[in-house]
Amino acid sequence: MARELTAAPMAEADLDQVLAIERVSFVTPWTRAAFCYEIEQNKVARCTAMKSAGRIVGYLCLWEIGHEIHITNLAVHTEWRRRGVGRRLLALAMAEGMARGVTLAFLEVRPSNAQALKLYESLGFQVIGRRTGYTLSSPAAEAGARAMCPPSASAAAPGSADRDFLLALLR
Ligand SMILES: CC(C)(COP(=O)(O)OP(=O)(O)OC[C@H]1O[C@@H](n2cnc3c(N)ncnc32)[C@H](O)[C@@H]1OP(=O)(O)O)[C@@H](O)C(=O)NCCC(=O)NCCS
Repeated sequence: MARELTAAPMAEADLDQVLAIERVSFVTPWTRAAFCYEIEQNKVARCTAMKSAGRIVGYLCLWEIGHEIHITNLAVHTEWRRRGVGRRLLALAMAEGMARGVTLAFLEVRPSNAQALKLYESLGFQVIGRRTGYTLSSPAAEAGARAMCPPSASAAAPGSADRDFLLALLR
């Protein structure tokens, strides 16, 4: 774990660095407009950027709806992977949610994304179902898919893929 990692709400000024990470992390990366919508307009969304020495090393976005959080995006800079950044972002989101009375956390991930699955399971998430034949066939479908983690760069091409649903009980 790096010495000084700080977490703060993602700002528009962060987006050049965020998008650079996003584009190498996902086959269907979020666009600048998608991040802007989440950080400026979507009232249920929160995006957190983690920095070291002023540089973004990872970020997490979620929706908080009632007593639930839905993790919508999580990525770590390739040079910072396997150093605890992803775990720290997720643990922070869960702890902050619990402090506000959140009791459930959901996310979706491709079954082939082994490293993400390991991370989620280590924090108490359990697979509760699988959506098969997941497709991104229209702009509307793609917009809906922003409620979920985009596919991992290591996974198959977008368009038809399975997604596991994971749930963590926070209390
Ligand atoms: C998934 C991702 C966010 C993990 O972030 P990270 O900062 O590297 O993860 P951490 O260092 O916090 O690792 C936490 C645990 O996850 C698991 N893990 C992470 N990377 C792993 C890898 N390459 N191989 C096996 N397990 C791995 C391990 O259990 C690890 O704990 P350990 O190091 O004590 O064994 C990162 O790999 C990433 O950005 N991937 C591309 C984007 C992505 O797939 N996002 C998730 C979409 S749902």
